[in-house]
Amino acid sequence: MTVHIGAKPGDIAETVLLPGDPYRARWAAETFLTDVRLVNEVRGMLGFTGTWKGNRVTIQGSGMGMPSLSIYVNELIRDYDAKTLIRIGSCGGMQDAVKVRDVILAMTATTMSTPSLGIFRELNFAPSADWSLLRAAAAAAEARGTPTHVGGIYSSDTFYDERPDLNTEMTRHGILGVEMEAAELYILAARYRRRALAVLTVSDHLLTGEALPSDQRETSFGDMVEIALEAAFA
Ligand code: HPA
Repeated sequence: MTVHIGAKPGDIAETVLLPGDPYRARWAAETFLTDVRLVNEVRGMLGFTGTWKGNRVTIQGSGMGMPSLSIYVNELIRDYDAKTLIRIGSCGGMQDAVKVRDVILAMTATTMSTPSLGIFRELNFAPSADWSLLRAAAAAAEARGTPTHVGGIYSSDTFYDERPDLNTEMTRHGILGVEMEAAELYILAARYRRRALAVLTVSDHLLTGEALPSDQRETSFGDMVEIALEAAFA
């Protein structure tokens, strides 16, 4: 047990999928895993461990934003020795070629979040995905025929943004989408030498204002979970 995770030692698998939403953790575990067990419910941030094609997997909610994800990922790595961590979440599209429902594999994650600013100060560290995971996820997405983009994303600290100029600069520099967690995941993975990737579904679009209707979110989300699982055990 840690401060924020009630799982016993050994309850957490080496491979952890991290949706922001704990109810999505439950849905993904019940839909894609067998022998599913609830391993964490501290603060309602549900975590489940089960089996996918003979491999042990934990699906643990991370909460929204980098400060929340940072708590769970620090404890998953430092206390439970998680080795492969894949965020599965949604993002806002930032390029015309990126459509709602498409998948984005985040090669890099630009951020100005305070956890990283505190460490790197004037340095622009480049948080990036694990290459073996990125390559396997791209291959899995291609094999499934899922429209997929690979490139940079923006990990913002705010959903209700008072700095639209930053989004404009991100779009101008080819950034594919915006979400709120991946950069901190990549920074922690770099620090502790773990494998990390963010697989994202485009749920809304900053340029067109389009948004995925709630009844279609589940199927798009399922594609992303399977791409993440296939990449983890490729
Ligand atoms: N901004 C930040 N995070 C997001 C968005 C967004 O527009 N869409 C999904 N996650």
